[in-house]
Amino acid sequence: MSLITLLGLIDPHVHLRDPRQTHKEDFYTGTCAALAGGFTTILDMPNNKTPITTFRVLNEKIKIAKEKIVCDVGFYFGSLGDNLDEFEKVKNKVLGLKLYLNETTGNLLIDKMELEKIFLAWSQSMSLHSNILSTKPILIHAEEKMLNVVIDLVKKLGNKIHVCHISTVSDLTQIIKAKEEGLPITCGVTPHHLFLTENDVKTLGPFGKMKPGLKSKKDQDFLWKNLKYIDVIESDHAPHTVNEKRGEGTTYGVPGLETTLPLLLTAVSEKRIEIDDIMRLCHKNTAKIFGIKSDPQTKIEINLHTSYFILHTSLFTKCGWSPFEGWKVKGKIERVFIRGEKVFEDGKVLVKPGFGKILI
Ligand code: NCD
Ligand code: ZN
Repeated sequence: MSLITLLGLIDPHVHLRDPRQTHKEDFYTGTCAALAGGFTTILDMPNNKTPITTFRVLNEKIKIAKEKIVCDVGFYFGSLGDNLDEFEKVKNKVLGLKLYLNETTGNLLIDKMELEKIFLAWSQSMSLHSNILSTKPILIHAEEKMLNVVIDLVKKLGNKIHVCHISTVSDLTQIIKAKEEGLPITCGVTPHHLFLTENDVKTLGPFGKMKPGLKSKKDQDFLWKNLKYIDVIESDHAPHTVNEKRGEGTTYGVPGLETTLPLLLTAVSEKRIEIDDIMRLCHKNTAKIFGIKSDPQTKIEINLHTSYFILHTSLFTKCGWSPFEGWKVKGKIERVFIRGEKVFEDGKVLVKPGFGKILI
């Protein structure tokens, strides 16, 4: 049987750029890209042009999103350590707190000294007057030494941590060790770290630049070999325009919402993984970590036998390019349903902006 039905996938790591950088992406184009890629729920990062570090800017962003989204969207809060009073106010409106300990796009790089204060304040806000059953995680961008710092702090304070986009042997080794010690740590990998290596930067040039950067074949093999220790796949959909990528200086980030599932289905066709692995990494664990309810009527239909080429001309993302341009993939998303309503079919989005729901 070539047609299969799966529960709608969840991407816990996207940058939809709305508001203030809507020339790169906006809530409508970004959520259309999600549906085309089989994602019915996506979680949006706080490194907007105006960082999402206050109750006020978070509410403004949610208000804009409500009018434009065609899939379900949840949000994260950001912090530089100077907005701890806001945690209590936003805790029921976000699915987690995102902290940047290594340099990337946006102005959210935090000082190591602030980290302990932030960890304490977040867990306090979670425990006070909370009707939340499980604590919302702190998501961390931390590589190498900074990952060490984070793990030491988890040992001391016990915060629930999700480490984003693990890409190296040494970082995954650290995570595996921490998990074996019973620390409340989960981790994610991106499709670009699974399917590209530093060798591809030669041909991709600026279109192969993202944070964390592409790594060696050895690192990539280690990720695949240890997939059982990885909790989620996160696209880190980070659109920038072609001109921005070609321009002076380096703009980090690649789009990924529309290519993640086709790449994973291709790996299924090559017997590198199974459909069950996709469901574990792109639905089950994601739902559990971020406290998202599954709806049996929110589902996707896939034809496992259809092959096609990834072409920028067929993408919904406003940035209009992909690092996987020209790749032949096997496995096509035919239809998508949200709460029983058909929202995507034959490459077309069938619902109006505002159809999606905001997650809290
Ligand atoms: C992201 C972006 O452009 O917002 N860039 C990236 O290279 N991944 C920021 C981030 O996720 O770190
Ligand atoms: Zn990111």
